[in-house]
Amino acid sequence: MHNFSSNLLSRLKPDARIVVLTGAGISAESSLATFRGPDGWWKSYRPEELATPAAFERDPQLVWEWYNFRRNKVREHAPNPGHLALAQMEKRFRHFTLITQNVDGYHHRAGSRTILELHGNIMKSRCRQCGQECEAGAENWREQLPYCKCGALYRPGVVWFGESLPLPILQDACRVAETCEIFFSIGTSSVVYPAAALPAQAAAQGAYIVEINPEETPLTSRVDEFLQGKSGEILPALINRIQQE
Ligand code: OAD
Ligand code: ZN
Repeated sequence: MHNFSSNLLSRLKPDARIVVLTGAGISAESSLATFRGPDGWWKSYRPEELATPAAFERDPQLVWEWYNFRRNKVREHAPNPGHLALAQMEKRFRHFTLITQNVDGYHHRAGSRTILELHGNIMKSRCRQCGQECEAGAENWREQLPYCKCGALYRPGVVWFGESLPLPILQDACRVAETCEIFFSIGTSSVVYPAAALPAQAAAQGAYIVEINPEETPLTSRVDEFLQGKSGEILPALINRIQQE
């Protein structure tokens, strides 16, 4: 059983303003690969070859092959107790916003409602010409490439390196970070910006910063509380503990 500090527990009142930022680590226990680390995608592939606009220009088939592979993984697996605990927390707290860098949609599947998807959603496609969006599988595939009704190519509905984040979503994320009282950074290596800047923005306005990760990150030395371990274990323990209060 995890021990949570009275400092943290006393702050977790029903009307506390809470923001949670998640990264690939929260889906690791759902058997989805993370990006960095020993088994991460960026050990076997270079981001420039798969996750940039230039990569898509050069070889759209290769890029789509990788995204289709990942879409299948997302379909095969499911949210884990970490995602479910966050959905429960949302019900428990009046002001609760979940910001995620993940594109797997598992927070939705776990029942979370207020979700800011900073990097898009892998189960969506977007037409490069007319901007029309569709669900994965609704595209018209020819020679391993998906086409929109307007005749142009679909691209995955995610944000690539070198692209800007969807502005309204980023603005909402900054706003809630700057007005929250408790900020959780969960399962992210805290190296990809602008997401990685959110904890510091929250701290500058006086928020209490909590990190959940089995490993230390560049953020760790700056947090108020580091809960070292897996999110699929710590988050269910935390919600249990809160429910005893
Ligand atoms: P990373 O792969 O960089 O980091 C995953 C983090 O999860 C690491 O710090 C791990 O220690 C931690 N972790 C591993 N298992 C965990 C577990 N069971 N519980 C909790 N944490 C665990 O993933 P992100 O930080 O999400 O961007 O990466 C940020 C962005 O970089 C991604 O959104 C993606 C990537 O390139 C784009 O594609 C634009
Ligand atoms: Zn189109």
